[in-house]
Parts: sequence; structure tokens; C-alpha cells
Amino acid sequence: MKGIRWRLTVNFIIVIMVSVTILEVMLIYTVQQNYYDSLRGNLTNQIKISADMYSKYYSDTSLENNILYNVDAFWNQSNALVEIVNSEGRIVMDSSGTFPDLHEATEDIQTALKGKMGEWTGKMSGRKVMSVAYPLTSGGKVVGALRFIASTEEIDKSIKSTANVFIIIGVFVILILGLLSVFLADTILVPLKEVTEAAESMAEGNFKIRSRKKRNDEIGKLSDTLNYMADEIIRREQLKNDFITSVSHELRTPLTSIMGWALTLQNERFRQEETLTDGLGIIAKESGRLTGMVEELLDFSKFVSGRIKLEYEEVDLAGLLSDIRKQFMMRAVRENIDFTVNCGKDLPDLKTDGNRLKQLFINILDNAFNFTNAGGSVCFEAEVSEKELKFCISDTGCGISAEELPMVKEKFYKGRSSMSKNGIGLSICEEIVNQMKGRMEIESEIGAGTQVTVILPFKGRSND
Ligand SMILES: Nc1ncnc2c1ncn2[C@@H]1O[C@H](COP(=O)(O)OP(=O)(O)OP(=O)(O)O)[C@@H](O)[C@H]1O
Ligand SMILES: [Mg+2]
Repeated sequence: MKGIRWRLTVNFIIVIMVSVTILEVMLIYTVQQNYYDSLRGNLTNQIKISADMYSKYYSDTSLENNILYNVDAFWNQSNALVEIVNSEGRIVMDSSGTFPDLHEATEDIQTALKGKMGEWTGKMSGRKVMSVAYPLTSGGKVVGALRFIASTEEIDKSIKSTANVFIIIGVFVILILGLLSVFLADTILVPLKEVTEAAESMAEGNFKIRSRKKRNDEIGKLSDTLNYMADEIIRREQLKNDFITSVSHELRTPLTSIMGWALTLQNERFRQEETLTDGLGIIAKESGRLTGMVEELLDFSKFVSGRIKLEYEEVDLAGLLSDIRKQFMMRAVRENIDFTVNCGKDLPDLKTDGNRLKQLFINILDNAFNFTNAGGSVCFEAEVSEKELKFCISDTGCGISAEELPMVKEKFYKGRSSMSKNGIGLSICEEIVNQMKGRMEIESEIGAGTQVTVILPFKGRSND
């Protein structure tokens, strides 16, 4: 497997190589331009002086005569090869005396004969040369051209050796930076390796281990997230264990009572009519409670695994609230709590899952009654607006502390109060509300009371 170290190093090296190559090409090109510019400059200066001299002192005589008698008078200060071309472009003088080739008039000569300075680079007798040509004028008329030719072989050699030095330096730079990039890759790799080790350890079940955060960057954030995940897993595990403990406890009470009565009734001494009726009555009642509890747990587990689907039907909201009122009125009287239901008269029919909606209100009201002492009050209000149905259940009970408030909707979370039970009521409510595409908000102040607001979407009255 080619790891990140390999990929990072290769990427670094590619970047270094591309940059060094671009830089080298630019440098070599600039050096070459400089050499050529300076040669061209020299030739141009010299040729201008010579041509000037010609037009000042020699232009009275014809070009051919000048060549015959004054040959080196106006060009001898140059050490370049000199040619003089007549107005037809034919070479009439060559300083080497060889008249090497009677070549076609090159670009520079053509330009010079038109009255401007011309320039040309190319090969002459197999050697690379640069030439400049300048018009020779007599009385304002171009009578021929003067041409200076210099070999570029020397400067090409210098350019080549400079380029070689640059290339060697470039290769060194690539090698050194390449080695450096291996170490640079380590600055990313080492922290990543440590995070991976911590994650692997967590995957094996060791949630006590923590990933050490070194820098405040992406890898540092990964460390934080991993540590947070481990904290959450530990916390939830604890909640689950507490839940199992409390459920076992809840189940044990009715079971003990059933077992006690079953053993009692086994004994013939207690089989009188009265005891038998009492005992069997209690066994039946406690079994009923157990069944209820087990059903609640099954229901809950279905909610948690997302297997609960709402069954939509037309629900008479007013009827549903009246049922709930009846159900809790008895308890209110028994516990001496003032219970009021305020819900206007014209509550609409609603397309929803009636049983789940009832379960939602019962769970919230059950909490309100549980956490409110005798003498307190519980109030249920319903309000219909254009797009929403708002249900508000408020109590004057013990309230929830600010630290606890964000957690009460979590699965298995139960408060420290002795009235707290399994800690699943509100998490079921949250599931139901979510499936109904609504929301549930809880506000509470310790000692003052709690207000749970359920807001459900409403598409308007169907009979309007
Ligand atoms: N009206 C309320 N007043 C004060 N505390 C409340 C109220 N409603 C909820 N709580 C707190 O939130 C916790 C979670 O409530 P939830 O209904 O989920 O669980 P529970 O009532 O303990 O058990 P159950 O699963 O039987 O409903 C409660 O244990 C309690 O501490
Ligand atoms: Mg509850």
C-alpha cells in the first residue's frame, strides 16, 4: 500500500521540479537574450559609426572607387567580418578577401538596401553567425550597404556553460528539497498516526484513551471529535446501564408480590375463599402491570430502532382532549392538583395518528403530575392558528435545572428526583413529534415549574 507519506512526497517533488524547471528555463532564456543583445549592440554601434563616416567623407566618390582606394578607411575599427554590398545586393568587398559565397541577399541586406538597419542570424559556411547591415548613402540615396558579421559560436559556448551551471544547481535544489519534503510529510503524518492509533484503540472498546491534540488544525479537530465521541459513548453506556438497573428494579416489585402470593396460595392453610380471591386479584393486577411495563418497553425499543410508523386517520381533536381530561381529572382530585384544560370550542378534525398523539400528551401530563406536589396546578392549553396547532402543558412543579434541560429529551435520561422513573417518556414524545413533522420545546425554571410546548403543522380546516 502506498501511504500518505509517499503521496505527499511525490506531490512535493512534482511541485519543486515544475517550479525549478520553469525558473531555469526563464533564467537561461534571459542569459541568452543578454549575450545576444550585447553582441547586437556592439555590432550596431560600430556599423553606425562606419556608415556615418562613409556618408561624411567618402560619399562623393562612387562605391566601387572607394573600395579600390580607401578600402579599410571607414570600417577598419571593427574586428568583425565586413562586407560591402552594392545597390543590387551583390557583394563587392569582403574583409576576409575570400568572397566566401555569392549568396542570395539575406534579410538584413534587403532591409539595409531599403534604407533601414537590418539584422539576421543564421548559418554561414556552416558556422552560426549574427549580422547587421546598414545603408551606405550618398547625397541622400542608398548606394549600397555595409554589413558586419560576427560568429555567435563563442557566446553560444558561454551560454551553454552558464546553462550547465544552472542545471547542476537546479538538480541539487530538487534533491535537497526532495529530501526535505520527506521530513515535511512527517509533520502531517505523525499526528495523523497518533490519531489513528487512538481511534483503533477506541474501536477495540477502550473508550478511556484520549487522542492528544497537538495543533489547532484539521487533525486537532479530528482529535477533539474523537475524544467527544468517546465521552458520549461512555455517557450513553452509563445511561443505558442505569436504565437497565431501574427497569429491573421496576420489574422486581410486581414479580416479588406475584411470587409471594403464589407461594402463599400453595399452602393449603391459606386456601380460604377470601384469601384466594385477594391473592389471585393481586396476582392478576401485578401481572397486568408487568404486561403494561413490558409493552411500554417493547414500544420504546420499536421507536428507538425506527420501526414505528404512524397510522394516519381523521381524528376528532376535541374528543381526544376530552378523553385525556377525563383520564387525568381523577388523578388531579386524588393528588389534590388543580387541573385545567383550555382549548376553545371549535377544535378542528386532524389527519394524524390519534393513539400516538394521545400517548404524547399522556407522557407529558404524566411528568407534569409526577413532578408537581399537592396544591400545585397543571394546565393544558390548545391553540389553533392558520398553519400550526400549539399545545401547551404547564405545571407549577419542581422544575428542571438549566444543566439538565438539554438532556431530558435523551433516551434513558432521568433526573435525580425520586419521582423520576425510566427516562424514556420524553424521548418517545420527541420521536412522535418528529414523525409528525412538528417540534417540542421545553422551558423550565427550577422551583417555579415547567412548560412543554408541542407545535404540530396544520394544513387548515378541511371543511372551510
Ligand atoms: N414537568 C417536569 N417537571 C420537572 N422535571 C421534569 C418534568 N418533565 C420531565 N422532567 C425531568 O426529565 C426527566 C426525563 O423525563 P422522562 O419523561 O423522559 O422520564 P421519566 O419521567 O423519568 O420516566 P418515564 O419513562 O416513565 O416517563 C425526568 O426524570 C425529570 O427529571
Ligand atoms: Mg415521564
